[in-house]
Amino acid sequence: MTQGHTEAEAQRRIVALRDEINRHNRLYYELDQPEISDAAWDALMRELLALEAEFPHLVTPDSPSQRVGGKPAEGFVKVRHEIPMLSLANAYSPEEMREFDRRVRELVGDAVTYVCELKIDGLAVSLRYEDGVLVRGATRGDGETGEDITANIRTIRSVPLRLSQPITLEVRGEAYLPKPAFEQLNAAREARGEPLFANPRNAAAGSLRQLDPKVAARRGLAVFVYALADASVPTPETHSEALRWLASLGLPINPETAVYTEIESVLHHIESWAQRRHELPYATDGMVVKVDRFAAQQRLGFTAKSPRWAIAYKYAAEQAETTLREILLTVGRTGVVTPTAVFHPVQLAGTTVSRASLHNEDLIRERDIRVGDTIVVQKAGDIIPEVVRSLPERRTGAEVPFAMPSACPACGERLLRLPEEAAWRCVNPSCPAQVRERIIHFASRDAMNIEGLGEQWVSQLMDAGLVRDAADLYQLTAPQLTQLERMGEKSAANLVAAIERSKGNSLERLLFGLGIRLVGEKAARTLARHFGTLDALASADVAALTEVPDIGPKMAESIRGFFANPAAAALVARLQAAGLNTRYLGPTAGPAAAADGGAGTSEIDSPFAGKTVVLTGTLSRFDRKQASEWVEQLGGTVTGSVSKNTDILIAGEKAGSKLAKAEQLQATGAPLEVWDEERFVAALRKAGMAPDGAEGAADARGGD
Ligand code: IVH
Repeated sequence: MTQGHTEAEAQRRIVALRDEINRHNRLYYELDQPEISDAAWDALMRELLALEAEFPHLVTPDSPSQRVGGKPAEGFVKVRHEIPMLSLANAYSPEEMREFDRRVRELVGDAVTYVCELKIDGLAVSLRYEDGVLVRGATRGDGETGEDITANIRTIRSVPLRLSQPITLEVRGEAYLPKPAFEQLNAAREARGEPLFANPRNAAAGSLRQLDPKVAARRGLAVFVYALADASVPTPETHSEALRWLASLGLPINPETAVYTEIESVLHHIESWAQRRHELPYATDGMVVKVDRFAAQQRLGFTAKSPRWAIAYKYAAEQAETTLREILLTVGRTGVVTPTAVFHPVQLAGTTVSRASLHNEDLIRERDIRVGDTIVVQKAGDIIPEVVRSLPERRTGAEVPFAMPSACPACGERLLRLPEEAAWRCVNPSCPAQVRERIIHFASRDAMNIEGLGEQWVSQLMDAGLVRDAADLYQLTAPQLTQLERMGEKSAANLVAAIERSKGNSLERLLFGLGIRLVGEKAARTLARHFGTLDALASADVAALTEVPDIGPKMAESIRGFFANPAAAALVARLQAAGLNTRYLGPTAGPAAAADGGAGTSEIDSPFAGKTVVLTGTLSRFDRKQASEWVEQLGGTVTGSVSKNTDILIAGEKAGSKLAKAEQLQATGAPLEVWDEERFVAALRKAGMAPDGAEGAADARGGD
């Protein structure tokens, strides 16, 4: 693309691109007024990177290409890192580690001590304590500007809200999702037909950047602090002592640190963890080696991107060869048929694996995977097994290419592949495999939360002919249940009680449990809040549905389609006849609310619960989208226009016609309230929402 530039042309273009990108970064990060799309920004950056790759000597340390990528998500308040959050240079071999050691010794002399720490596979966070109190948690973002995620950080149990001493300090660490929590999360997503997280890192990032702290709270995140960035009191002289000191203040420090004076000992330590690390309950992808003495760190300093006093040794993803025995097809809740590779068991990253999802037909074709092939398998993010490739050179001729069958493996009905989809679907809505998955989803924790009704029991109940759909669950009796293999009287009574309890759930759980295509947990909540009853929702037309904020035309069509389908309507009628509650019981009500882990809005005195709120004008501290999210998290409904149903109008600077309309309504005696930004922020603060950060961000910009 850039071939053929003379150096002078390239130089001119590089300077122009840098100015342009810096200007857009300022517009984006500091002014929150982007002028171009992310895609257009990416294109500028790509052009710059290409030119710099062609003329490497034109690269300067201050080029925007030298920053670490990643933009704050819309909806989070931005936070400037006074001390930038850097990343580390990587090493992939002992030789590169020895090279690092030579550079260090050249600069600081031979008396060096190294600290080895496991490299936790999560994402970097910065925690700030003032007078011992946690006041801010932030993501790295681009290293200079991150996102205020205080509300989510506060939900992490391993992060103390108060230190053992009233010190002001800032620390850096890694937020991660422990392996069991990751597996549970993915299992739940799979049961709901949602896309899986590829590795714990993505899952942790996704969880921390949840706008709803309640969701983040449920994910089970944890943190290890690995660095002291700044403190108000004199601090130790070495990193290893600093870690001990931070631990004594109550901060979570990874226990597996070791100190050595020789690089060969460091290498031995690295080697000794290559296998052992898989036994840890969290994912690691390397070993970080840091010069211990702060004075030496200072002398070594930084390159444009990373400190010269530390390096990350990365373990290679472990791979193994095995033979593919068969490709198994499973039918999900929405009829999607997923191929799974079943291979001879192999040891990989600490466990024995014998299966890996192949996702879809196209992937099998692209990787030319045939039954009988010798295949290479690895674990993505050290957790999820995947088939990397086949080894065609090992073929004997007996291998069988894969072809998707034309009939459903569970019910024999036709399979259909829609032109825009990679997946094949079974078109039979009463396919027993789909029905089974639908019932499992209906009973799952985030839906009707019927405790004790796992996959095994659903299968047994279906095999025994006791259950054909979710409504049948409500006809089950304890004597029927005790007929099942391994079901005692006590468990039967518990299960019947759990089923009975679920009748009292608030509407959003039922809605989510029905498994309407495209309707996830959040949309279910929005719909329940907006329509109030199942009947009102069932009779809403597409126009009424798309009026609801966040409900797009596709989802509206899907909801309409669901209720217009006679089989679905019959199921709903039977659930109603069984005595299930079909009303929205408010943000905290319903017996299953306790499953929110106690971090729900129930503990918060919410000024917006049940209120209809309109936002208008310019808010100075955050954008309107963020403000809407907060109102919704606090149980309010945000709508776009002022009417007599509006309870609160939040009016920022330059509010226009909506404010006029509200004042007009007030004049006619409507109980509508008009709030300015100050009052809104005060209300948010009182309700425990992110306003500390909002203030922090305003301060950082030297604002109000
Ligand atoms: S030290 C200025 N120590 O790995 C040095 N990083 O690119 C800051 N990480 O961004 C990093 N475990 O998110 C350090 N024990 C550890 C770590 C660690 C994981 C992450 C961190 C950093 C990335 C390195």
